[in-house]
Amino acid sequence: MTPLLLIESLSGGYEPVQIFKEVNLAVEAGACIGLFGPNGHGKTTLLRTISGLIDPWAGRIVFDGVQLNRPGEHRSRRSRQFNYDVLQRRRMDPKKVARAGLIQVAQGSTLFPELTVAETLSMAPLVARAGGRSADADRVLALFPRLKERLRSKARFLSGGERQMLAMACGLLAAPRLLMLDEPTLGLSPKLRLELADAIHAIRASGVPIIVVDQDVEFLRELVDSLHVFDHGSISRVLPRAEIPRHEALMAEMFGAGH
Ligand SMILES: Nc1ncnc2c1ncn2[C@@H]1O[C@H](COP(=O)(O)OP(=O)(O)O)[C@@H](O)[C@H]1O
Ligand SMILES: [Mg+2]
Repeated sequence: MTPLLLIESLSGGYEPVQIFKEVNLAVEAGACIGLFGPNGHGKTTLLRTISGLIDPWAGRIVFDGVQLNRPGEHRSRRSRQFNYDVLQRRRMDPKKVARAGLIQVAQGSTLFPELTVAETLSMAPLVARAGGRSADADRVLALFPRLKERLRSKARFLSGGERQMLAMACGLLAAPRLLMLDEPTLGLSPKLRLELADAIHAIRASGVPIIVVDQDVEFLRELVDSLHVFDHGSISRVLPRAEIPRHEALMAEMFGAGH
Protein backbone atom coordinates (compact mmCIF):
# COMPACT_ATOMS: atom_id res chain seq x y z
CA MET A 1 0.00 0.00 0.00
CA THR A 2 1.41 3.42 -0.86
CA PRO A 3 1.24 5.85 2.05
CA LEU A 4 -1.13 8.80 1.94
CA LEU A 5 1.75 11.19 2.65
CA LEU A 6 5.28 10.38 1.63
CA ILE A 7 8.18 12.68 2.44
CA GLU A 8 11.47 11.78 0.81
CA SER A 9 14.86 13.32 1.61
CA LEU A 10 13.27 16.64 2.40
CA SER A 11 15.63 19.49 3.28
CA GLY A 12 14.87 23.12 3.95
CA GLY A 13 15.09 26.14 6.20
CA TYR A 14 15.27 29.90 6.19
CA GLU A 15 17.79 30.86 3.59
CA PRO A 16 20.72 30.81 4.05
CA VAL A 17 20.30 28.79 7.23
CA GLN A 18 19.43 25.15 6.77
CA ILE A 19 17.08 23.94 9.52
CA PHE A 20 16.23 20.36 8.59
CA LYS A 21 17.97 17.81 6.44
CA GLU A 22 17.09 14.62 4.56
CA VAL A 23 13.85 13.98 6.39
CA ASN A 24 11.92 10.83 5.44
CA LEU A 25 8.41 10.24 6.70
CA ALA A 26 5.46 8.13 5.63
CA VAL A 27 1.91 8.39 6.93
CA GLU A 28 -0.45 5.56 6.05
CA ALA A 29 -4.19 6.04 5.84
CA GLY A 30 -5.68 6.03 9.35
CA ALA A 31 -2.31 6.35 11.12
CA CYS A 32 -1.30 8.71 13.89
CA ILE A 33 2.37 9.71 13.84
CA GLY A 34 4.09 11.53 16.71
CA LEU A 35 6.96 13.93 16.14
CA PHE A 36 8.93 14.60 19.30
CA GLY A 37 11.84 16.96 19.70
CA PRO A 38 13.11 19.80 21.84
CA ASN A 39 12.43 23.47 21.24
CA GLY A 40 14.13 25.04 18.26
CA HIS A 41 15.09 21.83 16.46
CA GLY A 42 12.97 22.59 13.40
CA LYS A 43 9.65 20.78 13.87
CA THR A 44 7.51 23.79 13.01
CA THR A 45 9.74 24.66 10.06
CA LEU A 46 9.26 21.11 8.73
CA LEU A 47 5.46 21.30 9.06
CA ARG A 48 5.37 24.75 7.44
CA THR A 49 7.40 23.36 4.55
CA ILE A 50 5.03 20.42 4.11
CA SER A 51 2.15 22.94 4.07
CA GLY A 52 3.88 24.91 1.32
CA LEU A 53 4.42 28.05 3.39
CA ILE A 54 8.20 27.74 3.03
CA ASP A 55 9.83 26.41 -0.12
CA PRO A 56 11.65 23.13 0.33
CA TRP A 57 15.28 23.10 -0.77
CA ALA A 58 15.41 19.50 -1.91
CA GLY A 59 13.43 16.30 -1.73
CA ARG A 60 9.85 15.29 -2.46
CA ILE A 61 6.48 15.77 -0.81
CA VAL A 62 3.97 13.32 -2.27
CA PHE A 63 0.35 13.39 -1.12
CA ASP A 64 -2.08 10.78 -2.35
CA GLY A 65 0.24 9.91 -5.21
CA VAL A 66 0.74 13.51 -6.38
CA GLN A 67 4.01 15.38 -5.87
CA LEU A 68 3.16 18.73 -4.27
CA ASN A 69 6.51 20.45 -4.71
CA ARG A 70 7.78 21.32 -8.13
CA PRO A 71 10.90 19.36 -8.88
CA GLY A 72 14.12 21.24 -9.54
CA GLU A 73 17.19 22.54 -7.86
CA HIS A 74 17.00 24.95 -4.97
CA ARG A 75 18.44 28.28 -6.06
CA SER A 76 20.36 30.51 -3.73
CA ARG A 77 19.01 33.94 -2.88
CA ARG A 78 21.82 35.48 -4.93
CA SER A 79 20.79 33.70 -8.12
CA ARG A 80 17.15 34.54 -7.46
CA GLN A 81 17.89 38.27 -7.51
CA PHE A 82 17.93 37.98 -11.27
CA ASN A 83 14.47 36.47 -11.42
CA TYR A 84 11.63 38.85 -12.03
CA ASP A 85 8.95 36.25 -11.45
CA VAL A 86 9.95 34.85 -8.10
CA LEU A 87 6.39 33.96 -7.19
CA GLN A 88 5.98 31.85 -10.28
CA ARG A 89 9.19 30.12 -9.43
CA ARG A 90 7.96 29.05 -6.03
CA ARG A 91 8.22 25.34 -5.69
CA MET A 92 5.02 24.97 -3.70
CA ASP A 93 1.60 26.57 -3.47
CA PRO A 94 0.06 26.50 0.04
CA LYS A 95 -3.46 26.93 -1.38
CA LYS A 96 -3.02 23.83 -3.49
CA VAL A 97 -1.80 21.89 -0.45
CA ALA A 98 -4.79 22.93 1.68
CA ARG A 99 -7.23 22.17 -1.11
CA ALA A 100 -5.72 18.72 -1.48
CA GLY A 101 -6.78 18.21 2.16
CA LEU A 102 -3.40 18.49 3.89
CA ILE A 103 -4.30 20.81 6.76
CA GLN A 104 -1.97 22.25 9.39
CA VAL A 105 -3.16 23.64 12.71
CA ALA A 106 -0.47 26.19 13.53
CA GLN A 107 1.47 26.35 16.77
CA GLY A 108 0.01 28.88 19.22
CA SER A 109 -3.08 30.94 18.72
CA THR A 110 -3.64 32.29 15.24
CA LEU A 111 -7.29 33.17 15.75
CA PHE A 112 -9.01 36.51 15.21
CA PRO A 113 -9.38 37.92 18.74
CA GLU A 114 -12.52 39.98 18.04
CA LEU A 115 -14.51 37.20 16.36
CA THR A 116 -16.76 34.94 18.41
CA VAL A 117 -16.40 31.18 18.36
CA ALA A 118 -19.47 30.89 16.11
CA GLU A 119 -18.16 33.55 13.71
CA THR A 120 -14.74 31.93 13.55
CA LEU A 121 -16.26 28.54 12.78
CA SER A 122 -18.51 29.99 10.10
CA MET A 123 -15.46 31.40 8.29
CA ALA A 124 -13.15 28.40 8.56
CA PRO A 125 -14.28 26.31 5.58
CA LEU A 126 -14.40 29.35 3.31
CA VAL A 127 -10.80 30.16 4.01
CA ALA A 128 -9.44 26.70 3.54
CA ARG A 129 -11.39 25.35 0.65
CA ALA A 130 -12.69 28.37 -1.23
CA GLY A 131 -16.23 27.10 -1.44
CA GLY A 132 -15.36 23.44 -1.66
CA ARG A 133 -16.70 20.60 0.43
CA SER A 134 -16.57 21.23 4.15
CA ALA A 135 -17.32 19.10 7.17
CA ASP A 136 -20.49 19.60 9.10
CA ALA A 137 -20.08 22.12 11.97
CA ASP A 138 -22.37 20.18 14.31
CA ARG A 139 -20.32 17.06 13.90
CA VAL A 140 -17.13 18.99 14.62
CA LEU A 141 -18.63 20.74 17.64
CA ALA A 142 -19.70 17.38 19.07
CA LEU A 143 -15.98 16.68 19.55
CA PHE A 144 -15.54 19.85 21.61
CA PRO A 145 -18.46 20.21 24.06
CA ARG A 146 -16.59 23.03 25.79
CA LEU A 147 -16.66 25.13 22.63
CA LYS A 148 -20.35 24.55 22.21
CA GLU A 149 -20.95 26.35 25.51
CA ARG A 150 -18.86 29.31 24.38
CA LEU A 151 -20.23 29.97 20.90
CA ARG A 152 -20.95 33.63 21.69
CA SER A 153 -17.59 34.40 23.35
CA LYS A 154 -14.95 36.33 21.50
CA ALA A 155 -11.76 34.39 20.85
CA ARG A 156 -9.78 36.75 23.07
CA PHE A 157 -11.81 35.72 26.11
CA LEU A 158 -11.18 32.00 25.64
CA SER A 159 -8.76 30.03 27.78
CA GLY A 160 -5.62 28.56 26.17
CA GLY A 161 -7.26 25.15 25.92
CA GLU A 162 -10.41 26.53 24.37
CA ARG A 163 -8.38 28.45 21.80
CA GLN A 164 -6.51 25.31 20.88
CA MET A 165 -9.80 23.46 20.50
CA LEU A 166 -11.18 26.25 18.31
CA ALA A 167 -8.07 26.14 16.11
CA MET A 168 -8.45 22.37 15.77
CA ALA A 169 -12.16 22.72 15.02
CA CYS A 170 -11.30 25.16 12.21
CA GLY A 171 -8.84 22.63 10.82
CA LEU A 172 -11.51 19.92 10.89
CA LEU A 173 -14.01 22.16 9.11
CA ALA A 174 -11.63 22.23 6.17
CA ALA A 175 -12.47 18.51 5.77
CA PRO A 176 -8.86 17.38 6.15
CA ARG A 177 -7.61 14.19 4.58
CA LEU A 178 -4.60 14.53 6.88
CA LEU A 179 -4.30 16.82 9.88
CA MET A 180 -1.01 18.22 11.20
CA LEU A 181 -1.17 19.46 14.79
CA ASP A 182 1.76 21.61 15.97
CA GLU A 183 2.16 21.43 19.76
CA PRO A 184 -1.55 21.37 20.61
CA THR A 185 -0.82 21.08 24.34
CA LEU A 186 1.50 24.08 24.59
CA GLY A 187 0.73 25.90 27.85
CA LEU A 188 -2.21 23.69 28.80
CA SER A 189 -2.97 22.29 32.26
CA PRO A 190 -2.78 18.50 32.75
CA LYS A 191 -6.58 18.33 32.84
CA LEU A 192 -6.95 20.18 29.53
CA ARG A 193 -4.27 17.99 28.01
CA LEU A 194 -6.45 14.99 28.76
CA GLU A 195 -9.46 16.66 27.16
CA LEU A 196 -7.42 17.49 24.11
CA ALA A 197 -6.09 13.94 23.90
CA ASP A 198 -9.70 12.69 23.94
CA ALA A 199 -10.53 15.01 21.05
CA ILE A 200 -7.50 13.82 19.06
CA HIS A 201 -8.54 10.20 19.70
CA ALA A 202 -12.01 11.02 18.40
CA ILE A 203 -10.62 12.71 15.29
CA ARG A 204 -8.52 9.67 14.62
CA ALA A 205 -11.46 7.33 15.19
CA SER A 206 -13.35 9.31 12.55
CA GLY A 207 -10.71 8.14 10.06
CA VAL A 208 -8.51 11.25 9.69
CA PRO A 209 -4.79 10.45 9.85
CA ILE A 210 -2.78 12.79 12.06
CA ILE A 211 0.77 14.04 12.51
CA VAL A 212 1.07 15.45 16.01
CA VAL A 213 4.10 17.41 17.18
CA ASP A 214 4.72 17.67 20.90
CA GLN A 215 7.47 18.06 23.45
CA ASP A 216 5.77 15.72 25.90
CA VAL A 217 6.48 12.05 25.28
CA GLU A 218 3.88 10.97 27.85
CA PHE A 219 1.16 12.85 25.96
CA LEU A 220 2.23 11.36 22.63
CA ARG A 221 2.53 7.79 23.89
CA GLU A 222 -1.21 7.52 24.47
CA LEU A 223 -2.02 8.75 20.97
CA VAL A 224 0.46 7.60 18.38
CA ASP A 225 1.31 4.42 16.47
CA SER A 226 4.93 5.46 16.23
CA LEU A 227 7.15 8.21 17.54
CA HIS A 228 9.61 9.98 15.27
CA VAL A 229 12.41 11.54 17.29
CA PHE A 230 13.47 14.83 15.74
CA ASP A 231 16.98 15.80 16.69
CA HIS A 232 18.75 18.87 15.25
CA GLY A 233 16.73 18.84 12.05
CA SER A 234 16.82 15.11 11.32
CA ILE A 235 14.71 12.16 12.33
CA SER A 236 17.16 10.18 14.41
CA ARG A 237 14.86 7.32 15.47
CA VAL A 238 11.45 5.87 14.75
CA LEU A 239 9.99 4.02 17.73
CA PRO A 240 6.87 1.86 17.55
CA ARG A 241 4.43 2.66 20.33
CA ALA A 242 5.44 -0.29 22.52
CA GLU A 243 9.09 0.85 22.47
CA ILE A 244 8.57 4.49 23.41
CA PRO A 245 10.59 5.13 26.59
CA ARG A 246 9.55 7.42 29.43
CA HIS A 247 9.98 11.13 28.79
CA GLU A 248 12.96 11.45 31.13
CA ALA A 249 14.65 8.37 29.71
CA LEU A 250 14.35 9.65 26.15
CA MET A 251 15.63 13.11 27.09
CA ALA A 252 18.57 11.53 28.91
CA GLU A 253 19.37 9.40 25.83
CA MET A 254 19.32 12.50 23.65
CA PHE A 255 21.12 14.97 25.88
CA GLY A 256 22.76 12.94 28.60
CA ALA A 257 21.68 12.62 32.21
CA GLY A 258 20.56 15.73 34.07
CA HIS A 259 17.85 16.79 31.59
N1 LIG B 1 11.00 33.02 10.35
C1 LIG B 1 12.21 32.56 10.71
N2 LIG B 1 13.35 33.04 10.15
C2 LIG B 1 14.56 32.59 10.50
N3 LIG B 1 14.76 31.61 11.41
C3 LIG B 1 13.68 31.09 12.01
C4 LIG B 1 12.37 31.54 11.70
N4 LIG B 1 11.48 30.82 12.45
C5 LIG B 1 12.24 29.97 13.20
N5 LIG B 1 13.56 30.13 12.94
C6 LIG B 1 14.66 29.34 13.52
O1 LIG B 1 14.56 28.02 13.04
C7 LIG B 1 14.95 27.07 14.05
C8 LIG B 1 13.88 26.03 14.19
O2 LIG B 1 12.68 26.64 14.68
P1 LIG B 1 11.32 25.85 14.76
O3 LIG B 1 11.06 25.17 13.46
O4 LIG B 1 10.29 26.81 15.25
O5 LIG B 1 11.64 24.74 15.87
P2 LIG B 1 10.64 23.88 16.78
O6 LIG B 1 9.27 23.95 16.19
O7 LIG B 1 11.23 22.50 16.77
O8 LIG B 1 10.70 24.48 18.14
C9 LIG B 1 15.19 27.90 15.31
O9 LIG B 1 16.59 28.06 15.45
C10 LIG B 1 14.52 29.22 15.03
O10 LIG B 1 15.17 30.26 15.69
MG1 LIG C 1 7.51 24.59 17.00
